[in-house]
Amino acid sequence: MDKRKIGVLVSGRGSNLQAIIDCISKGDIPLEITAVISDKDDVLALERAAKAKIAGFTVNRRECSSKEEFEEKINAILIKAGCELVVLAGFMRILSAAFVNRWQNRIINIHPAVLPSFPGLDAQKQAVNYGVKISGCTVHFVDEGTDSGPIILQKTVFVLDGDTEETLAARILEQEHKALPEALKLWAENKLIIEGRCVKILA
Ligand code: GRF
Repeated sequence: MDKRKIGVLVSGRGSNLQAIIDCISKGDIPLEITAVISDKDDVLALERAAKAKIAGFTVNRRECSSKEEFEEKINAILIKAGCELVVLAGFMRILSAAFVNRWQNRIINIHPAVLPSFPGLDAQKQAVNYGVKISGCTVHFVDEGTDSGPIILQKTVFVLDGDTEETLAARILEQEHKALPEALKLWAENKLIIEGRCVKILA
């Protein structure tokens, strides 16, 4: 059976991309990554894609005359690569409502906090500064808002005395590397049902 194809959008290190690549190559997830698209040149994520023999692309925002053109280029790559789903794995740009609507319920994001707490940038720093005792990560479908779409799954970690943004981020990242592949496996197996802003997981 043909595996369903997905595209992954990245901006940097790509450790979440690597976690997906590793699970796919172990045969744990019936998916194929057919495009990795970065908004920055020379990022580690593109090296990881190349090493895994996955087509990598850079679409530089500064080389586009508008956000619309930037997203149009990304969209064209995804369509050409036959992607059914877009995964935002450390992609540091907000997608427009037009793009999100085009890919309605077909964009998944990983965020390093237990949403709806601490959306947006520097989520781990927000958690440390707020003094919460538990934080973690959230995998969710993307809607028009920032980190506000229907939640697929969440994993938590304790925030320890003396944690810094960096130490907390490292502990959360370990959970991200489990949560994102897990969510993608559920999606690949058609086990995710979106009902309003809730996601039901079929047994
Ligand atoms: C992760 O913490 C992810 O949750 C956030 O950006 C970071 C990306 O890390 N959106 P990596 O590029 O996957 O290593």
